[in-house]
Amino acid sequence: MEVIIKPDYDAMSVAAAQQIADVLNRKPNAVLGLATGSTPLGVYKELARMHRVEGLDFSRCTSFNLDEYVGLPASHDQSYHYFMRENFFKHVNIPAQNIHVPSGTTSNFPAFCQWYEERIEACGGIDIQLLGIGSDGHIAFNEPTSSLSSRTRLKTLAKQTIDDNARFFEKSEDVPIYAITMGVGTILEADEIVLLANGAGKADAVAQAVEGPVTSMITASALQMHPYTKFYIDGDAAANLKMREYYEWISMKKPGAPRA
Ligand code: F6R
Repeated sequence: MEVIIKPDYDAMSVAAAQQIADVLNRKPNAVLGLATGSTPLGVYKELARMHRVEGLDFSRCTSFNLDEYVGLPASHDQSYHYFMRENFFKHVNIPAQNIHVPSGTTSNFPAFCQWYEERIEACGGIDIQLLGIGSDGHIAFNEPTSSLSSRTRLKTLAKQTIDDNARFFEKSEDVPIYAITMGVGTILEADEIVLLANGAGKADAVAQAVEGPVTSMITASALQMHPYTKFYIDGDAAANLKMREYYEWISMKKPGAPRA
C-alpha cells in the first residue's frame, strides 16, 4: 500500500485521475471500477476535462460501479445511476452498453448479484478500481463486520452511513436502509486500487485502514492485503497517521517510481 499526501482536494483528484488515464492509455479497453459520493467528484471532473481537452478516449472501456441504493429507480436524483450519468457518463464517451451500475430495483437480488459478479469476470476483471472511504471505514457499502471475502450482495447500511448520507436527502428517513454492493473480496480482485479521502472527518478511518490491524470492523483495512493499492489523501485526512513523515519522505524520494 502506498500513501500519497496531496496539499488539497484538487491536487489529490488530479493525481488519481492521472493514474486512471495512464491505465486507459496503456489499455484502451480497460475495465474501470467506479465509485459515487462526494469524494470522487473531482476525479470525474478531471477525467471529463482530459476527454474534452486532451482526447482521452473511453470508447473501448467498460465500467462497473460499486453499489446502488435498494429501492431507488435509475431516474431518482439520489440514485447512483443518476449520479454517474450527471457527473461522469454524459461528459465522456463510454458506450452505454459498456456501463454497469447495480440495479436497486431488480425483482431478484441474489440472481442479479451473481450475474454482476459473472459479468465482471466475463469482461476480464477490473483493471483499476476507484474507492472512497466511509467515516466508519467502509469501502463500497461493506459496513463494519462485513466478511473480508464477501461478494456482491445486499447489505443493510449502518446507522453512521445513513446519518452521513442524510445530507443528500430531504430527511434522514428518506435514506434507503439497504444497498446492493460489491463485496470486499470482489474489490480485492481488481488489478489496481485507488482510494481517495479528504477532510478531517476521514482522518480516523484512514489511519485505521492504513496502520491498524486488518479487521472486518474497518473493511478498508483489507486493502493492506492487496498488492497494488494507492491512497491519495489530503492533509486533513492524513492528520492521524503515525507514519506520515515516512510516507512524505517516500513520495519525495521516489517520485514516479515504476510499478514493480
Ligand atoms: C460510494 C461508496 C461509498 C463512499 C463512501 C464515502 O459508491 O461506495 O463507500 O465512497 O461512503 O462517501 P463520500 O465520498 O460521500 O464521503
